[in-house]
Amino acid sequence: MTDERSTWLFGYGSLIWRPDFPWLASRPARIRGWTRRFWQGSHDHRGVSDDPGRVATLIESPGEYCQGRAFLIEPAIFEHLDVREKNGYQRHPVEILFDQGSATGVVYVAPPDNFAFLGQAPLPEIATHINRCCGPSGTNREYLFRLARALREIDAIDPHVFQLERLVRGLSSTQPDFGTGN
Ligand code: SIN
Repeated sequence: MTDERSTWLFGYGSLIWRPDFPWLASRPARIRGWTRRFWQGSHDHRGVSDDPGRVATLIESPGEYCQGRAFLIEPAIFEHLDVREKNGYQRHPVEILFDQGSATGVVYVAPPDNFAFLGQAPLPEIATHINRCCGPSGTNREYLFRLARALREIDAIDPHVFQLERLVRGLSSTQPDFGTGN
């Protein structure tokens, strides 16, 4: 179900819980060879230049799977998405697996050599970082909490995300948990 007028986009971060674009179809899906990690810096949505937030990217992990949601979109939508994902993400071709069947599609990946990449850190350190940060789109906590909720809705398993959620919920914050941005 894809031709030159439509393309599958695989979402694994804010694209899952804030798809601010029209789509023709949407389904839970997964991709092979990648894992989701809060290793990417966000200067424009969940943090600021001198204190970037931590958001999700994909790390190459042979044999692993990342669960998310696929959207069938018209190619013109990429003009909007390229701006939304401009802080270090690049389009990457990917094979998207559905419960039944598969399709070739696209995923936004922020690779380790991008200017905003923050990389690995102990989970409690990442949790403290997320608990602190806030940007034009809202708090970094909200990004994490909304992602965790969206993953539960599709019965996804992701210990990295759920452990971080637990750690951040255990930290005190005066910031509201949910706002409106991506
Ligand atoms: C995605 O959601 O697929 C890309 C990363 C993000 O925007 O959070």
